[in-house]
Amino acid sequence: MALALRGESFYNATTLRWSCPMTTGFSPADTAKFASAKRASAFVESGMKVGLGTGSTAAHLVKCLGERVKNEKLDILAVATSVRTADLAREVGIHVVSLDEARWLDLTIDGADEYDAEFNLIKGGGGALLQEKIVATASDRMIVIADSTKKVQTLGAFPLPVEVLGFGMNTTQMLVEELLTGLDVMGTTSSLRKSGDELFVTDEGNHILDLHVERIGNARQLALLLNQVPGVVENGLFIDICDVIVTGHGDGSVETRDINSGETDKARFEPAPVENLFSDVGV
Ligand code: A5P
Repeated sequence: MALALRGESFYNATTLRWSCPMTTGFSPADTAKFASAKRASAFVESGMKVGLGTGSTAAHLVKCLGERVKNEKLDILAVATSVRTADLAREVGIHVVSLDEARWLDLTIDGADEYDAEFNLIKGGGGALLQEKIVATASDRMIVIADSTKKVQTLGAFPLPVEVLGFGMNTTQMLVEELLTGLDVMGTTSSLRKSGDELFVTDEGNHILDLHVERIGNARQLALLLNQVPGVVENGLFIDICDVIVTGHGDGSVETRDINSGETDKARFEPAPVENLFSDVGV
C-alpha cells in the first residue's frame, strides 16, 4: 500500500486545511488525535471493507469517514471492533456489517495505548482488545492512529490488558502472576479492571486483567505464553500486526510511517477558514 493514495499534491503540500467544523475548540491532545485520524481516513477508498477501531482516536476516524460517506459518497463496508464503535458508525451513515459477513478486510484503522519502534503495540485500554485483534488480524493492512505520547522505547508502562473468562478468574490471575515472575518484566502484579464498583465486562462478556509489568523485555514471548494460560482469552500485545503508524501532534502535524516499505511522509493540518469548509486545500 503506497502512502500517497489521494494524489501526489496531497502529500507534497506542507499544510493541509482540514474541513471539519467539529474541530472548533479542540485541545492540543484532541488536535493530535484528530490529525492522525483525518490523515489515516485518506487511505480509505470506495469499494473497501474497513475495520474500525475503538477509543477516542478511532472515534475521530469514524466521524471523518462519516463525512466522506456524506460528502463524497464514499462507498465502504465497515466492521466495528465494539458495540460503541458500531453505534457511532451507523450514526454517521457508515454501513456496518459483521466480520462473518465481510470475512476479510482491506484495512483496519485503530488506536493504540503504546507502540514501539518495531510497530508492536499494547492495546485494550478501552477493553476491546479481543475484537480489535480478531479484526486487525483479518485485514490486509492495519493502520494505527495515535498521538505522539503513545510512542515508547519499551512497551509496558501502560498496564497490559488481558481478557479473561469469568470462570475461575481469580485462579487465572494467580497463574498469570506466577508466569510473570519467570519472565523478563519489571512488575508482576495485576488487577481485575473495575467499572465503578463492578467488574468491567467486555462486549464478549469477559473481564480484563491489567498487568502492571512496567517494562516488557520480550513482548513476543510474553504474548505467546499468556495465551497458554487456561482462562486467558487473549492479550493486548499486538505483535507483527501493525503495518502503518500515523502519529499526530498537538500543532496539527502528522507523520506517517510504513514499516514494510520504509516510506514516510509528513503533513500538517490547520483549520480551514470558514469560507473553505468542506474542501481540503493544499497550500
Ligand atoms: C481499545 O480497547 C483500545 O485498544 C484503544 O485502541 C486504545 O485504548 C486507544 O484509545 P485512545 O485512542 O482513546 O487513546
